[in-house]
Formats: sequence, structure tokens, C-alpha cells
Amino acid sequence: LCVNKNNQHVQATTQLAVPVNSHNEWDPLEEVIVGRPDGACVPEFTTEVKATTNEQYWNFYKKFGGGPFPKQHLEKVKSEIDEMCNIFRHEGVIVRRPDIINWSEHFKTPDFSSPVGLYSAMPRDILIVFGNEIMEAPMAWRSRFFEYRAYRSLLKEYFNAGAKWTAAPKPLMGDELYDHDYPIENMQDRKYVTTEFEPCFDAADFMRAGRDIFAQRSQVTNHLGIEWVRRHLGPEYTIHELTFRDPNPMHIDATFNIIGPGLVIANPDRPCDQLKMFENAGWTVVQAPMPTISSEHPLWMSSKWLSMNVLMLDEKRVMCSKTEKPIIKMFEKLGWWIETVQVDITFANSLGGGFHCWTTDVRRSGHLQSYF
Ligand code: ARG
Repeated sequence: LCVNKNNQHVQATTQLAVPVNSHNEWDPLEEVIVGRPDGACVPEFTTEVKATTNEQYWNFYKKFGGGPFPKQHLEKVKSEIDEMCNIFRHEGVIVRRPDIINWSEHFKTPDFSSPVGLYSAMPRDILIVFGNEIMEAPMAWRSRFFEYRAYRSLLKEYFNAGAKWTAAPKPLMGDELYDHDYPIENMQDRKYVTTEFEPCFDAADFMRAGRDIFAQRSQVTNHLGIEWVRRHLGPEYTIHELTFRDPNPMHIDATFNIIGPGLVIANPDRPCDQLKMFENAGWTVVQAPMPTISSEHPLWMSSKWLSMNVLMLDEKRVMCSKTEKPIIKMFEKLGWWIETVQVDITFANSLGGGFHCWTTDVRRSGHLQSYF
């Protein structure tokens, strides 16, 4: 408050900086949360984990589930991610990190128990920003129930600085949330391991383009979860539910990655059923090239399509993999104005994420607009 000529108390014109502000996936990035591999644990091989895991890794889960990820591998992840943080800083972006948490502790709620937590490697999965609001997603894997604890220091700080802070209602995660007969051998008929017993969602099943938000029903996000977000955001936003030819959807950002106003990278293996809607709106949909990562390299928690999981630093700069040459070529062809910021996070990919997954963009300059 200050006092004006007529001796009235008025709001000072020099406004406090907004701590949280992001409306889409491409406005100029100012502050980002980058995940941590520290103490990451392999989840117990439960129904919901099995449903989302490639069969070639089932033995890995049977062997390591309930204990830490291989130590040497995590050390390589740590140095890759530290380097990624340096590159962000070099590009002028403020980097924030979650707290270090001991994920190896057994925990129990009145509804279930879990031998370990998972990690704080993928802030994208749990945090989403809508304007000045930062939201904790409720999650759907039991091992991830308490994942929000790694972000509470940051969230309190943003709250104290004026952000709106929301935690979506957490599912109980009792047996009713999961289809224990989930037909793993018959994945064609589009069933999901999560039921509609109560709302659940991961933040990474949502993509933001201003007033239009695109979401998918997945193994971890149910219709009730999407409906909860729709009612929470209210009439200012339109939530579009997209479907893809993907027998095992989980997290939309390696399937349909919106990288600019009216510009999407689409996954050719997982065609979008609503493509016409985007074409009618005049959007450009670019097909991602085939990933090149070796089949020998362990990807315990994802497919190879992390190659298209890029992060925009602004409309002109894209953070992408140094080793995925075809997608670098794709950006070169897309437009002379796009500059690639190439980083190698091959070992970090093994934990299930690329650049978009490993981050949450807390602040991008820009305001709420309609692009659709
Ligand atoms: N399930 C996706 C795939 O295998 C990976 C998505 C990762 N995204 C994330 N936010 N963790 O292609």
C-alpha cells in the first residue's frame, strides 16, 4: 500500500512478481522445476504397474520391485540431469528442485500398503499449472500416493509469494480403483486398469493450449478425473478428451506434444482419432520420426517415443535429445526459426521420461488466450 496525492491508500503500482504463471507449453520459459533421481525406487509389481509396463521388463520388476533402482545407473542419471539444469540456467531459466525424500520406506494408509514410494523424477506427472494456479494431481499408482511430499517446500514458497495452490482430491486407492483381472494378454479392446470408482489422474495426461486443454483417459487418468478438472477450471476453459490408437495409454506427452500455437508433434504409432478437429482449426500436425535409441538400452518405464517428449523454452527454442538425430532434422525442416538446445539424458530416459516429463514449467511470460 502507498498513499496518493489525496491521501488515499492505494495498491502500489509496482506489482509483486507473479511466482506462478503458465498457460501453455511454449510461452517464454522463466522458471522450471526439474525432477530428481535421488533415492528412486522400483515400484512393487502390482496390477497397475504391470498394466503399464512392457513385458520385456517384467523380470526387472520382479527382481528389483520394492527396492532401489540400480545405483550406478542412478549416478549417471544424476549427472545428466545436473547438466540439463546447467543448460537451463545458461538459457536464462531459473531452475528449482524438489526436496530429497527417502522413498525406500514402507508405508500404509487405511486402504492399502506399499513397500516403497517411487521418485520425484517426473514433476510433470504430478504438478500442473493453470495460470497462477499450481495443482497437485491425485495420482493413480499406489507407490506414488505420497509423491507430493517432495514438492511441499516449493509449493509453500509459491503460495507465500501469492500463487493459488490446489491439491485435487486423492483417491483412496483401495482395491476398487483397479481392475484386478485387467486383460494384459488382450490389450486390443481398450480396457483400462483403473476403474471409475473414484476420480484419479496424473497431471501428465493433460496438455495446455491456453483456454483449450487436451486430456486423455489412460491407465492412470479416468473419466471422473478429467471431469473433476473440467468442473474445477470452470467455463473459462474447454477440456477436450482425445483418444489415440494406443493399447496402453499413460501420459499424453509422448503421444501428442503441443509445441506452439497451432503446432503439434504427433506419434505415428498412436494416431489421434480427433485429427480432423485440429485440421479444421487450422493447426499443423507434424508426425514424429522413428526414435533411434538402441533396443539394448533399458527403458524400464516407457516406450522409445520419449524422443518426441521435447520441451519448448519459447516458440523458437526447443530442448531435445542430442542423440535423436531424426527429430533434430525434423525441427530443422519445420522452420529456420527453430533452434534446438540439445541435451543428452539417455540414462534419465530409463526412469520413464524425456525433457517434458522431467520438468514442470512454473512460469512462462504470457497470458490466457484462445488458440483453437
Ligand atoms: N507412456 C509414455 C510412453 O511410453 C511415456 C510418457 C512419459 N511421460 C511422462 N510424463 N512421464 O510412450
